[in-house]
Amino acid sequence: MPKTTTQAKTYTLSPKQRQAWLLLEDTRYRRYLFDGGARSGKTDLTLVWLVSQAARFAGARILLARWKLDHARTTLWSLSLKKLLPPGCSGVRYLEGSLEARFPNGSVIRVGGLDDSDRVDKILGDEYLHIFINEATQISWETVTKVMTRLSQDIPGATRKLILDCNPKGPRHWLHQVGVQHVLPSNGTSREADPLPDAESWARLSWTPYDNPHLPADTIRTLEALPGVMRRRMLLGEWCSNEGAVYEMFEPDIHCFDRLPEGSGEWRRIRGIDFGFTNPFVCLWGAIDGDGRLWVYRELYRTKTQVVDLAAMILAAERNAFTTVADPEDAEARAVLNNAGVGNVPAFNDVSAGIQATQKRFAVAGDGRPRLFISQSCVNTISELYEYRWADQKEGRDADERPVKAHDHAMDALRYLVMEADRPTTYAVTLPEERKRGDGASSWATVF
Ligand SMILES: Nc1ncnc2c1ncn2[C@@H]1O[C@H](COP(=O)(O)OP(=O)(O)OP(=O)(O)O)[C@@H](O)[C@H]1O
Ligand SMILES: [Mg+2]
Repeated sequence: MPKTTTQAKTYTLSPKQRQAWLLLEDTRYRRYLFDGGARSGKTDLTLVWLVSQAARFAGARILLARWKLDHARTTLWSLSLKKLLPPGCSGVRYLEGSLEARFPNGSVIRVGGLDDSDRVDKILGDEYLHIFINEATQISWETVTKVMTRLSQDIPGATRKLILDCNPKGPRHWLHQVGVQHVLPSNGTSREADPLPDAESWARLSWTPYDNPHLPADTIRTLEALPGVMRRRMLLGEWCSNEGAVYEMFEPDIHCFDRLPEGSGEWRRIRGIDFGFTNPFVCLWGAIDGDGRLWVYRELYRTKTQVVDLAAMILAAERNAFTTVADPEDAEARAVLNNAGVGNVPAFNDVSAGIQATQKRFAVAGDGRPRLFISQSCVNTISELYEYRWADQKEGRDADERPVKAHDHAMDALRYLVMEADRPTTYAVTLPEERKRGDGASSWATVF
């Protein structure tokens, strides 16, 4: 295998990384997409090449960016750059305040986030020889084009380059259009897409984890065990949509969050519960922000556990004031929960209406954001979101159509939560006794 040496350590490129290296050295190309499965060696190769460019071209300015500054600081700065080129090696100094690695020859590698307009403006105040955008699917084409305008540092003998890397998403993502199809991003109209004006300067390399000989076998096994669409994207590197899934529109980049935003302590809290013993029992915790968005921030997903023990776990997790809605079909389990201190009311349980309401919340609204978010920590819920499917793969659905009754435990709890979040809190309509809340369909049909 070919070798490239920094003073820091000898780095042996995989055959795929060598292919990428040769593409980067090719002066015909100025725009790159390295897309593919997880842990394939894309980011490492890009950083090794950029470090070699900093060493080779005195005074080079290189930007490594991600959408969120704190992710850029952890992954690009601490876990990648400093690992590849440990502080002190080759005389490189790391400036923590400005996230800059300064080389003895005057070159600078700067790490930045693009999640804040002031920060973007500051970044745009400089000229760069190369710009690398890591996990580029997380940012917009508009931001990329803006950042590209700063690719303007002139260094004799060097070719300016923009490098984007990512794991694949759905085929309608702008990065698939730009980086794979080499057309301008469409806005969903049926008009034929326009080719990129500089299509000939784009190069694309698709990767999979099988390309990385340094990967432990258990990492590959974990990727092989992922649910359908995630397996295709993260293992096989395919741009694919989750066709046939009830929540086809679910995309972690759009719908998942790390932590609840500031001020969430004041938000209204709700819990949704679906019972199970052989099948999982699921409790989801949700918080509703001032704009009515629902943030699902915790899950309890257990099999073979008595309701009374589950109640103790729910109470131990958080002692806030909650409205708790639970599967209306199991009055006995609801009573046990109630006696154990988890007061609850029957959830609204019309499957079609619940799914429609949940889909509506997952849809991106006019402000570019959905109205339903799921914490990354809710791994079972996320897994079910991928696997919960319609029985029949077809276009258009009848109002009474049902999903397959599998992978639906967290999905039921989620529906209950959404219906509770959608319930107007000032629900002043007086209904006849038999149509009050708890009498599922009729009362809800009146509200919506
Ligand atoms: N040539 C190499 N020599 C030694 N280790 C390597 C090499 N290439 C990659 N690795 C290691 O393999 C792991 C995955 O590499 P990397 O992070 O570059 O993959 P990736 O394709 O960017 O993955 P993801 O899509 O998950 O971001 C890292 O721990 C990295 O340090
Ligand atoms: Mg990476």
